[in-house]
Amino acid sequence: MRLAVIPGDGIGREVVAQGLKVLTAVLPSEVKLETEEYDLGARRWHATGETLPEAELEALKGHDAILLGAIGDPSVPSGVLERGLLLKLRFAFDHYVNLRPSKLLPNTATPLAGRPDIDFVVVREGTEGPYVGNGGSLRTGTPAEVATEVSLNTAYGVERVVRDAYERAQARPRKKLTLVHKNNVLVHAGHLWKNIFDRVGREYPEVTTDYLHVDAATIFFVTQPERFDVIVTDNLFGDILTDLAAAVTGGIGLAASGNINPSGAFPSMFEPVHGSAPDIAGTGKADPTATVLSVALLLRHLGHEAEAARVETAVAEDLAARDGSPRTTDEIGDALALRVTG
Ligand code: NAI
Ligand code: MG
Repeated sequence: MRLAVIPGDGIGREVVAQGLKVLTAVLPSEVKLETEEYDLGARRWHATGETLPEAELEALKGHDAILLGAIGDPSVPSGVLERGLLLKLRFAFDHYVNLRPSKLLPNTATPLAGRPDIDFVVVREGTEGPYVGNGGSLRTGTPAEVATEVSLNTAYGVERVVRDAYERAQARPRKKLTLVHKNNVLVHAGHLWKNIFDRVGREYPEVTTDYLHVDAATIFFVTQPERFDVIVTDNLFGDILTDLAAAVTGGIGLAASGNINPSGAFPSMFEPVHGSAPDIAGTGKADPTATVLSVALLLRHLGHEAEAARVETAVAEDLAARDGSPRTTDEIGDALALRVTG
């Protein structure tokens, strides 16, 4: 397993070390793990002015997958690393499926009353929508400034992510897929999505389908999250919904994600949803669980289903055993590594 590791900034480095610890512990001895670290992020940008040089982008292509901690720091102007590194990787490696599972695990705090049974996956489109950089500004900085940020939606891009979501729904026990958009107002993109969703759905007769406007979806995420199984949605709606999903399922320290190229043409990238948390960096307070769950997604993507399941079970058991006494990042990593081997 040839893994590229981008620890990044702040707590990124701390949590990635734990992710690798658990990965090393769970892999069977016949799988040889080769890791190569890439120094990218705020520190690198301050040192050299570089975000993602072409040579490193090329080198990253040679790996089976990428594990990323977190990138960013308040000292870097907003957008520099997001566009120059994170989005550049997603576009260059055609990560058209942004996968974010949400499950209410044992012994975790949800702000929702009555602890609903939450177990759903958001399949967020990753390469189109309003995130493509299709815009600009005129008369910038004047009272007459004009700015556009055009949402790009192609039949090709929508169909491939919708198809991936149907496949994932088909493989789950409940076999339910919900399309989230806003087709009553965003009629052009919305109808493209809905028409393709309906057409592809005819090939998956076992999958029950549903449609929700994004505003209604935010209500149901809070009042009835148990109604969801797999959700497919556009890049921007998915970004917002998945943060809400993380908030109702125990918080940002547990939320994992994968930026996936299902064809395998380029390496997929796995990362915790949270950022570099400069407020707690270096204190040992960062919870590495989101990174460890991202490692489970990585294992599943590379075909190591049994190992992925063991990591997820270890996390559930570790959470169930938590009694509120504080543990360091390293201690949680050690406990998880022990559970996957035990
Ligand atoms: P953040 O996710 O870094 O932190 C938000 C809050 O959650 C903080 O109070 C932090 O201490 C806490 N937190 C985050 N992860 C935690 C963990 N594993 N365990 C315990 N507590 C945790 O978001 P924020 O503060 O908005 O951003 C900080 C930096 O991270 C910014 O530069 C931002 O651009 C970057 N960022 C990078 C992301 C990425 O690399 N994909 C994603 C989100 C933010
Ligand atoms: Mg977000």
